[in-house]
Amino acid sequence: FATLKHQAQSGAPLYLQLRKSIEDAVNRGLIGPGDALPSERDIATKADISRVTVRKAVQDLVKGGILVQRHGSGTFVAPRMERVEQSLSRLTSFTEDMARRGMAVRSAWLDRGLYAPSPDEMMVLGLSSSELVARVARLRIANDTPLAIERASLSASVLPDPADIGSSLYAALELTGNRPVRAVQRISAANLGDSDARLLEVPPGIAGLHIERISYLASGKVIEFTRSIYRGDAYDFVAELRLTG
Ligand code: GLP
Repeated sequence: FATLKHQAQSGAPLYLQLRKSIEDAVNRGLIGPGDALPSERDIATKADISRVTVRKAVQDLVKGGILVQRHGSGTFVAPRMERVEQSLSRLTSFTEDMARRGMAVRSAWLDRGLYAPSPDEMMVLGLSSSELVARVARLRIANDTPLAIERASLSASVLPDPADIGSSLYAALELTGNRPVRAVQRISAANLGDSDARLLEVPPGIAGLHIERISYLASGKVIEFTRSIYRGDAYDFVAELRLTG
């Protein structure tokens, strides 16, 4: 950054020059994925420019997905995303999928509680307006990278205490003999809105995948209605197709 003050005559606005020098440092591997950027104040002092200019350059790079900001801990070079190849022919849970790849799984809670059901929850789960729905909404994270926002709805009779599921919904359902054996999954394109993009640490507006899963018990009863947003830059869904009949 120190060289920046000598280049200040070059004509381009200072924040663009700073943005370029940070981008160059990332591209040349001088700072790598996950590395912390010096504080705004340090950069401003070293480059002899104002903090407002530094903030503008950094915000641009955050919008472009080159840097990520984590509240309270600073600004980092965005982790390089290795795409997850996910089979569409097996009914597995997020925890199982990531554990199989040797990835460390965790979730951040967005919501968990019992609510009056919405009309579509009533329809899909077969609930009456006097029954309650258990909602479990989580940011799903693997190896410290947020991959998906999942919002699951189940009948409160199956999950009377949504705060009690631990780290895996399917493991909790298995304990009570309610693990689904069949599911219908619908995948559609969705551009990420601001709040989802912020949670997933990607620039707003980029492509995401909206995934709806309705899963069933062997009896045919619907057990789970989950609506999720997956990162479009992180997932490949793969199915094997066979010529039959
Ligand atoms: C997948 C499915 C969800 C399901 C979840 C359970 O991600 N898309 O529909 O609710 O797995 O995962 P876990 O058992 O890790 O909570």
